[in-house]
Amino acid sequence: MELKLILTVLVVLFSTVIADDYVRPPPRKTLHFPWDPKPTLNPQQVHVSLAGKKHMRVTWITDKSAPSTVEYGKSRGRYDAVAKGESTSYRYFLYKSGKIHHAVIGPLEDNSVYFYRCGGKGPELQLKTPPARFPISFAVAGDLGQSGWTNSTLDHIKQCNHDVLLLPGDLSYADYLQHHWDTFGRLVQPLASARPWMVTQGNHEIEKIPLLKEGFVSYNARWEMPSEESGSSSNLYYSFEVAGVHIIMLGSYADYDVYSPQYQWLKGDLSKVNRKRTPWLLAVFHVPWYNSNKAHQGEGDDMMKAMEPLLYAARVDLVFNGHVHAYERTKRVYNGKLDGCGAVHIIIGDGGNREGLSSKYIYPQPKWSEFREASFGHGQFKIVNSSHAFWSWHKNQNDESVKSDEIWITSLSNSGCVNHRPI
Ligand SMILES: *[C@@H]1O[C@H](CO)[C@@H](O)[C@H](O)[C@H]1NC(C)=O
Ligand SMILES: *[C@@H]1O[C@H](CO)[C@@H](O)[C@H](O)[C@H]1NC(C)=O
Ligand SMILES: [Fe+2]
Repeated sequence: MELKLILTVLVVLFSTVIADDYVRPPPRKTLHFPWDPKPTLNPQQVHVSLAGKKHMRVTWITDKSAPSTVEYGKSRGRYDAVAKGESTSYRYFLYKSGKIHHAVIGPLEDNSVYFYRCGGKGPELQLKTPPARFPISFAVAGDLGQSGWTNSTLDHIKQCNHDVLLLPGDLSYADYLQHHWDTFGRLVQPLASARPWMVTQGNHEIEKIPLLKEGFVSYNARWEMPSEESGSSSNLYYSFEVAGVHIIMLGSYADYDVYSPQYQWLKGDLSKVNRKRTPWLLAVFHVPWYNSNKAHQGEGDDMMKAMEPLLYAARVDLVFNGHVHAYERTKRVYNGKLDGCGAVHIIIGDGGNREGLSSKYIYPQPKWSEFREASFGHGQFKIVNSSHAFWSWHKNQNDESVKSDEIWITSLSNSGCVNHRPI
């Protein structure tokens, strides 16, 4: 009996070593930040996002007395333009947020560095606007949190030369403890104040308490996205265009049935897509529709049933999701079957939050699943031209960024798919 057990253990150990000599790391603890209960006069938690053609929204937090102005210009210390924005704040039981400012700057030149200062004081920051044409490069990371692994992921993203960051939901993992939204804001500021961060909501953003607190109070106050600019009536879904890419940011936690405002908005938004102007069409949302990990099985089914036909008819090239704390890439797929006119679905929920990895998979691996692995990391999507893009997944191996999956993807706009079945 004992011998059998030992043999089994040896065989298991041996086969693991053969299959993969990479030892999967355990989760890391939440980072310890010095306690700083109140934002001070100095602007903090600065982040920027795209806000319509040639404009960007700057968001920052101060205490109550500061003005909502951003001064900016193309050389250091010389601000020849100023934008005035608005501010908001919220209460969450005993917690009272600082003053959350949003100001839209522009028109800005493409592919240019701007120097800026928030609230008429504080340190000078700099950002780079995205290019007007290909090539353009996206960093993609979901389910970030603020653990030691998050730090590692952010460090690797900093080293990759990206124009825009896409975040498919689950940002701070504050989970009702509102000051964690502040520490998250400070953790990401070095990256998020320099390149636009385009985010959509995950379940950790909801923070709803029935009868006491509505959902998304903190998320909506702090992470205002260009919904108004894209004809949406909710901060939970919107779209934007950058270089030759149309990107739809959907809400897994907003209504999505055929009669919902989100569905109607999506239909209208897709009807305006012109594949000559934007040959690439991407969609980003939190809960995956194609997931062969045991975690969160079936959670995306209802949304998929309602919305996949719309995305398919529009010939969406690529879908980015989070939620599952692992990496998975599919072949082109639609309605559960391989389909050359369907989208490639990528789960990139492995940003490094404190909950750790989801490492149990379903066997056999579904036909549509091409690559899956439970490791922390981030993705890079480099669109070279109207037809070719290079996707790579970089895992955090002992804090080194190691490229572990890569593939060339061609746009459906140059395939027979778009021409045969125009929307
Ligand atoms: C985060 O990462 C940076 C760069 O790798 C390192 O210098 C810093 O000590 C890390 N911070 C924490 C709190 O672990
Ligand atoms: C687009 O880029 C790919 C990969 O570099 C190249 O093979 C292809 O010829 C390019 N197409 C055009 C139209 O420039
Ligand atoms: Fe999630």
